[in-house]
Amino acid sequence: MAAQQKTFYLETFGCQMNAHDSEKVVGTLVSQGYRQVPTVEEAGLVLYNTCSIRDKAEQKVFHRLADYKKLESQGKKFGVLGCVAQQEGNKIFERAPYVSMVCGSASYRNLPEMLVQIEAGNRRVSGLDDRETDECFETEFTARTNPHRGYITIIEGCDKFCSYCVVPFTRGKERSRTSDSVLAEARQMADLGYTEIQLLGQNVNSYRDPSRKKSFAELLASVGELPDIKRVRFMTSHPRDFGRDIVEAIDSVPTLCDHVHLPVQSGSTRVLEAMQRLYSREQYLERISWMKSARREISITSDIIVGFPGETDEDFEQTLSLLDEVKYDAVFAFKYSPRPNTPAISMDDAIPDSEKSRRLAVLLEKQRSIQQRRNHNHIGQQLEVMVEGKNETRGQWIGRTSQNKTLNFTAPANCSFEQGSYVPVQITTAFPNSLLGEMVQSA
Ligand code: 5AD
Ligand code: SF4
Repeated sequence: MAAQQKTFYLETFGCQMNAHDSEKVVGTLVSQGYRQVPTVEEAGLVLYNTCSIRDKAEQKVFHRLADYKKLESQGKKFGVLGCVAQQEGNKIFERAPYVSMVCGSASYRNLPEMLVQIEAGNRRVSGLDDRETDECFETEFTARTNPHRGYITIIEGCDKFCSYCVVPFTRGKERSRTSDSVLAEARQMADLGYTEIQLLGQNVNSYRDPSRKKSFAELLASVGELPDIKRVRFMTSHPRDFGRDIVEAIDSVPTLCDHVHLPVQSGSTRVLEAMQRLYSREQYLERISWMKSARREISITSDIIVGFPGETDEDFEQTLSLLDEVKYDAVFAFKYSPRPNTPAISMDDAIPDSEKSRRLAVLLEKQRSIQQRRNHNHIGQQLEVMVEGKNETRGQWIGRTSQNKTLNFTAPANCSFEQGSYVPVQITTAFPNSLLGEMVQSA
């Protein structure tokens, strides 16, 4: 590729870990003299950072590649990054021969050398790792897309091996960064003007400081106590490793957001066992009770899988009754999708797709009414939002509360807010998925 052609387009699929990996990939490519462009047409190198958590996510990248196949003749090069790359490996070169780079997330460190090889005309460049890799992708070149809210990966990989999940195969074994390196990055971000930091990990609360200085809860508190940091979030927590000390930290450090995402996956202990989730319904509910007895009102959200092999009507009823018991503020629900390499793929008692769809619809309908009631409780409260933008058609500002709820608000016409500013809002109306309010004017 000639110097003036060193352009790339990057599309990201999947979770926040992928979104943040992409920020690091962009930073790395830019440091190598590449320029990011907004369309495939303008790009010399087309990259997809892929997700393989469910079949639909995985198919997306192959559809994209098929769409763009004809562009290869224009000299464009294609690369597949992330979980599909790690899972399918060099097989991708067979399935899509116009792809010239395949790179799993544990090999991003090698991207600069891989780019040199591609530029030299090498048609098949791959970076793939085994599960035992110790590689972390700590780079000084992160190109964060939002100047106010930023992610920091504190732990990569997963050792839990839930029976339905590909992540332990695509992202390798669990490895944590030292608390000093996390705090140094957070401090640097605060200096750059970031006020919200989100600590990331597949199981963020399984964090183990290699230098043994801080527990996860202590690290959370330390990030929250940094000067100029106003909000700290963390995602995703695993119930098995969720200690009371996390709730105590939220209670005592006001900058820690009052929101915990604690995926339950199923309300039936029998299904939880088959899923190898390492906790029972009762143990999960005990953790919920810690949060409910906190001094602050902590919003709780969850992930749920419906139609896991062998899930009976009674099992599903237990998931529904768990929704009633916990009263989540939001739920992300998915139909079970069989994944390669996982133990669940060879389990009997597959549930037909139509039944999975039915259960999903029943669950979402129930959750919708729970959320409507939960959000109704906010009416009359005054909450602070971080401004994210403006909906010009409605004349409403868009913000997010500490509990991670969307709160749209109106303000006098002469008021204007920068993205990332904090505004007090009085709540007037509740919807299942958002709140509406008015800016509180100081006397
Ligand atoms: N099928 C459906 N949903 C899945 N998830 C993970 N693996 C699967 C699968 N094979 C869901 C879980 C997890 C979320 C990120 O994706 O609910 O918490
Ligand atoms: Fe997948 Fe379970 Fe690990 Fe989460 S904890 S990434 S669901 S294996």
